[in-house]
Amino acid sequence: MLEARNIHKTYRQARDPLHVLKGIDLAIQRGEVLGVVGPSGAGKSTLLHILGGLDHPNQGQVIFAKQDIYQWNEQRRSLFRNQKVGFIFQFYHLLPEFSAEENVILPGLVYQDVKKAEIKNRASQLLERVGLQKRARHKPSELSGGEQQRVAIARALINDPEIVFCDEPTGNLDSENGEQIINLLLEFNQRNQQTLVIVTHDESMAERCHRVIHMRDGVLSEK
Ligand SMILES: Nc1ncnc2c1ncn2[C@@H]1O[C@H](COP(=O)(O)OP(=O)(O)OP(=O)(O)O)[C@@H](O)[C@H]1O
Ligand SMILES: [Mg+2]
Repeated sequence: MLEARNIHKTYRQARDPLHVLKGIDLAIQRGEVLGVVGPSGAGKSTLLHILGGLDHPNQGQVIFAKQDIYQWNEQRRSLFRNQKVGFIFQFYHLLPEFSAEENVILPGLVYQDVKKAEIKNRASQLLERVGLQKRARHKPSELSGGEQQRVAIARALINDPEIVFCDEPTGNLDSENGEQIINLLLEFNQRNQQTLVIVTHDESMAERCHRVIHMRDGVLSEK
Protein backbone atom coordinates (compact mmCIF):
# COMPACT_ATOMS: atom_id res chain seq x y z
CA MET A 1 0.00 0.00 0.00
CA LEU A 2 2.98 2.30 0.54
CA GLU A 3 6.33 1.96 -1.15
CA ALA A 4 9.64 3.73 -0.75
CA ARG A 5 11.99 3.64 -3.73
CA ASN A 6 15.64 4.52 -3.41
CA ILE A 7 15.14 7.15 -0.71
CA HIS A 8 18.11 9.36 0.10
CA LYS A 9 18.20 12.05 2.73
CA THR A 10 21.07 14.36 3.53
CA TYR A 11 20.94 16.97 6.27
CA ARG A 12 22.97 20.01 5.33
CA GLN A 13 24.64 21.25 8.46
CA ALA A 14 27.23 23.89 9.22
CA ARG A 15 30.24 21.83 8.12
CA ASP A 16 29.76 18.34 6.75
CA PRO A 17 26.53 17.25 5.14
CA LEU A 18 25.09 14.23 6.93
CA HIS A 19 23.94 11.46 4.59
CA VAL A 20 21.32 9.80 6.81
CA LEU A 21 19.35 7.63 4.36
CA LYS A 22 21.35 5.94 1.63
CA GLY A 23 18.96 4.33 -0.77
CA ILE A 24 16.03 2.88 1.17
CA ASP A 25 13.71 0.48 -0.66
CA LEU A 26 10.67 -0.70 1.25
CA ALA A 27 7.21 -2.01 0.42
CA ILE A 28 4.58 -1.99 3.15
CA GLN A 29 1.54 -4.24 2.75
CA ARG A 30 -1.98 -3.29 3.75
CA GLY A 31 -2.78 -4.51 7.26
CA GLU A 32 0.86 -5.21 8.02
CA VAL A 33 2.47 -4.46 11.39
CA LEU A 34 6.02 -3.49 10.51
CA GLY A 35 8.65 -2.95 13.19
CA VAL A 36 11.67 -0.72 12.55
CA VAL A 37 14.65 -1.15 14.84
CA GLY A 38 18.23 0.09 14.85
CA PRO A 39 20.70 2.12 16.87
CA SER A 40 20.11 5.72 17.87
CA GLY A 41 20.90 8.08 15.02
CA ALA A 42 20.39 5.39 12.35
CA GLY A 43 17.70 7.48 10.65
CA LYS A 44 14.54 5.71 11.83
CA SER A 45 12.57 8.88 12.66
CA THR A 46 13.80 10.53 9.46
CA LEU A 47 12.49 7.58 7.43
CA LEU A 48 9.15 7.62 9.26
CA HIS A 49 8.70 11.33 8.56
CA ILE A 50 9.50 10.87 4.89
CA LEU A 51 7.10 7.91 4.56
CA GLY A 52 4.35 9.94 6.22
CA GLY A 53 4.72 13.00 4.02
CA LEU A 54 6.24 15.19 6.74
CA ASP A 55 9.71 15.70 5.28
CA HIS A 56 11.08 15.71 1.72
CA PRO A 57 13.67 13.17 0.61
CA ASN A 58 16.58 14.50 -1.49
CA GLN A 59 16.13 11.65 -3.92
CA GLY A 60 13.70 8.79 -4.43
CA GLN A 61 9.98 8.33 -4.31
CA VAL A 62 7.25 7.47 -1.83
CA ILE A 63 4.43 5.81 -3.72
CA PHE A 64 0.86 5.81 -2.42
CA ALA A 65 -2.06 4.80 -4.65
CA LYS A 66 0.37 4.60 -7.59
CA GLN A 67 1.49 8.21 -7.14
CA ASP A 68 4.63 9.81 -5.75
CA ILE A 69 3.44 11.87 -2.78
CA TYR A 70 6.40 14.26 -3.25
CA GLN A 71 5.20 15.11 -6.74
CA TRP A 72 1.99 16.44 -5.18
CA ASN A 73 1.68 20.06 -4.15
CA GLU A 74 1.79 20.93 -0.46
CA GLN A 75 -1.99 21.15 -0.21
CA ARG A 76 -2.54 17.70 -1.67
CA ARG A 77 0.11 16.31 0.66
CA SER A 78 -1.52 17.90 3.74
CA LEU A 79 -4.73 16.23 2.74
CA PHE A 80 -2.88 12.90 2.58
CA ARG A 81 -1.40 13.51 6.04
CA ASN A 82 -4.74 14.48 7.49
CA GLN A 83 -6.89 11.75 5.95
CA LYS A 84 -4.73 8.72 5.17
CA VAL A 85 -2.04 8.89 7.81
CA GLY A 86 -1.92 8.93 11.62
CA PHE A 87 1.18 9.88 13.61
CA ILE A 88 2.03 8.87 17.15
CA PHE A 89 5.18 10.62 18.35
CA GLN A 90 7.56 9.62 21.06
CA PHE A 91 6.78 12.69 23.15
CA TYR A 92 3.03 12.75 22.48
CA HIS A 93 3.02 16.31 21.05
CA LEU A 94 -0.35 17.13 22.57
CA LEU A 95 -1.44 20.76 22.65
CA PRO A 96 -1.11 21.79 26.31
CA GLU A 97 -3.89 24.37 26.38
CA PHE A 98 -6.53 21.97 25.09
CA SER A 99 -8.30 19.14 26.90
CA ALA A 100 -7.78 15.47 25.98
CA GLU A 101 -11.04 15.48 24.03
CA GLU A 102 -10.17 18.69 22.16
CA ASN A 103 -6.77 17.29 21.22
CA VAL A 104 -8.47 14.25 19.71
CA ILE A 105 -11.10 16.32 17.89
CA LEU A 106 -8.79 18.90 16.31
CA PRO A 107 -7.44 16.90 13.32
CA GLY A 108 -11.04 15.90 12.64
CA LEU A 109 -12.05 19.51 12.11
CA VAL A 110 -9.50 20.14 9.37
CA TYR A 111 -10.51 19.33 5.79
CA GLN A 112 -13.26 17.00 6.93
CA ASP A 113 -16.65 17.46 5.41
CA VAL A 114 -18.56 16.16 8.40
CA LYS A 115 -20.46 17.77 11.23
CA LYS A 116 -18.70 18.76 14.40
CA ALA A 117 -21.16 16.65 16.38
CA GLU A 118 -20.10 13.53 14.47
CA ILE A 119 -16.42 14.15 15.11
CA LYS A 120 -17.16 14.79 18.76
CA ASN A 121 -19.04 11.56 18.96
CA ARG A 122 -16.20 9.67 17.32
CA ALA A 123 -13.68 11.29 19.67
CA SER A 124 -15.60 10.18 22.72
CA GLN A 125 -15.86 6.64 21.34
CA LEU A 126 -12.11 6.56 20.75
CA LEU A 127 -11.40 7.95 24.22
CA GLU A 128 -13.61 5.24 25.63
CA ARG A 129 -11.73 2.57 23.66
CA VAL A 130 -8.42 3.77 25.05
CA GLY A 131 -9.96 3.82 28.52
CA LEU A 132 -9.97 7.57 29.05
CA GLN A 133 -13.61 8.59 28.90
CA LYS A 134 -13.41 9.87 32.48
CA ARG A 135 -10.33 11.97 31.70
CA ALA A 136 -11.66 13.63 28.54
CA ARG A 137 -11.87 17.10 30.08
CA HIS A 138 -8.38 17.04 31.55
CA LYS A 139 -5.45 18.91 30.06
CA PRO A 140 -2.27 16.98 29.12
CA SER A 141 -0.43 18.34 32.20
CA GLU A 142 -3.07 16.65 34.36
CA LEU A 143 -2.52 13.26 32.72
CA SER A 144 0.15 10.59 33.25
CA GLY A 145 2.58 9.69 30.45
CA GLY A 146 0.63 6.55 29.58
CA GLU A 147 -2.63 8.49 29.53
CA GLN A 148 -1.14 11.18 27.29
CA GLN A 149 0.11 8.51 24.90
CA ARG A 150 -3.38 7.00 24.79
CA VAL A 151 -4.80 10.43 23.94
CA ALA A 152 -2.19 10.64 21.16
CA ILE A 153 -3.37 7.25 19.84
CA ALA A 154 -7.00 8.39 19.83
CA ARG A 155 -5.95 11.58 18.03
CA ALA A 156 -3.99 9.61 15.42
CA LEU A 157 -7.08 7.52 14.71
CA ILE A 158 -9.74 10.24 14.59
CA ASN A 159 -9.85 10.38 10.79
CA ASP A 160 -9.66 6.60 10.43
CA PRO A 161 -6.27 6.58 8.69
CA GLU A 162 -5.11 3.73 6.49
CA ILE A 163 -1.63 3.75 7.96
CA VAL A 164 -0.39 4.76 11.41
CA PHE A 165 3.24 5.68 12.03
CA CYS A 166 4.39 5.21 15.62
CA ASP A 167 7.75 6.62 16.68
CA GLU A 168 8.75 4.79 19.86
CA PRO A 169 5.21 4.80 21.21
CA THR A 170 6.31 3.12 24.43
CA GLY A 171 9.67 4.88 24.76
CA ASN A 172 8.71 6.88 27.82
CA LEU A 173 6.50 4.38 29.55
CA ASP A 174 7.05 1.71 32.17
CA SER A 175 6.62 -1.88 30.98
CA GLU A 176 3.04 -2.19 32.19
CA ASN A 177 1.87 0.97 30.43
CA GLY A 178 3.97 0.05 27.42
CA GLU A 179 2.27 -3.34 27.22
CA GLN A 180 -1.13 -1.66 27.34
CA ILE A 181 -0.19 0.64 24.43
CA ILE A 182 1.09 -2.31 22.36
CA ASN A 183 -2.15 -4.20 22.96
CA LEU A 184 -4.23 -1.20 21.96
CA LEU A 185 -2.31 -0.64 18.73
CA LEU A 186 -2.56 -4.30 17.75
CA GLU A 187 -6.26 -4.32 18.59
CA PHE A 188 -6.87 -1.41 16.20
CA ASN A 189 -4.77 -3.17 13.57
CA GLN A 190 -6.83 -6.35 13.89
CA ARG A 191 -10.24 -4.73 14.04
CA ASN A 192 -9.79 -2.08 11.37
CA GLN A 193 -7.01 -3.52 9.22
CA GLN A 194 -5.00 -0.41 9.93
CA THR A 195 -1.41 -0.73 8.74
CA LEU A 196 1.12 0.04 11.48
CA VAL A 197 4.74 1.09 11.15
CA ILE A 198 6.36 1.08 14.57
CA VAL A 199 9.83 2.36 15.42
CA THR A 200 10.83 0.76 18.68
CA HIS A 201 13.71 -0.12 20.98
CA ASP A 202 11.37 -2.36 22.91
CA GLU A 203 12.07 -6.04 22.26
CA SER A 204 8.67 -7.23 23.43
CA MET A 205 7.07 -4.80 20.99
CA ALA A 206 9.32 -5.87 18.10
CA GLU A 207 8.48 -9.52 18.81
CA ARG A 208 4.82 -8.83 18.23
CA CYS A 209 5.29 -7.20 14.82
CA HIS A 210 4.59 -9.24 11.69
CA ARG A 211 7.94 -8.25 10.24
CA VAL A 212 10.93 -6.35 11.58
CA ILE A 213 13.44 -4.37 9.53
CA HIS A 214 16.79 -3.27 10.84
CA MET A 215 18.27 0.06 10.05
CA ARG A 216 21.97 0.70 10.24
CA ASP A 217 24.14 3.36 8.66
CA GLY A 218 21.35 4.55 6.42
CA VAL A 219 20.44 1.20 4.86
CA LEU A 220 17.91 -1.50 5.70
CA SER A 221 18.32 -5.18 6.32
CA GLU A 222 15.64 -7.71 7.11
CA LYS A 223 16.19 -10.36 9.75
N1 LIG B 1 16.82 18.38 11.22
C1 LIG B 1 18.02 17.81 11.29
N2 LIG B 1 19.14 18.49 10.93
C2 LIG B 1 20.36 17.91 10.98
N3 LIG B 1 20.57 16.65 11.39
C3 LIG B 1 19.50 15.93 11.76
C4 LIG B 1 18.18 16.46 11.73
N4 LIG B 1 17.32 15.50 12.17
C5 LIG B 1 18.07 14.43 12.44
N5 LIG B 1 19.39 14.66 12.19
C6 LIG B 1 20.50 13.72 12.34
O1 LIG B 1 20.24 12.62 11.48
C7 LIG B 1 20.58 11.38 12.09
C8 LIG B 1 19.37 10.47 12.11
O2 LIG B 1 18.39 11.02 12.98
P1 LIG B 1 17.05 10.26 13.33
O3 LIG B 1 16.29 11.14 14.26
O4 LIG B 1 16.36 9.86 12.08
O5 LIG B 1 17.61 8.97 14.06
P2 LIG B 1 16.85 7.82 14.86
O6 LIG B 1 17.25 6.53 14.25
O7 LIG B 1 15.39 8.12 14.92
O8 LIG B 1 17.49 7.92 16.31
P3 LIG B 1 16.82 7.69 17.77
O9 LIG B 1 16.72 6.22 17.95
O10 LIG B 1 17.80 8.31 18.69
O11 LIG B 1 15.49 8.39 17.78
C9 LIG B 1 21.13 11.75 13.46
O12 LIG B 1 22.52 11.75 13.40
C10 LIG B 1 20.58 13.13 13.72
O13 LIG B 1 21.46 13.88 14.53
MG1 LIG C 1 14.10 8.68 16.44
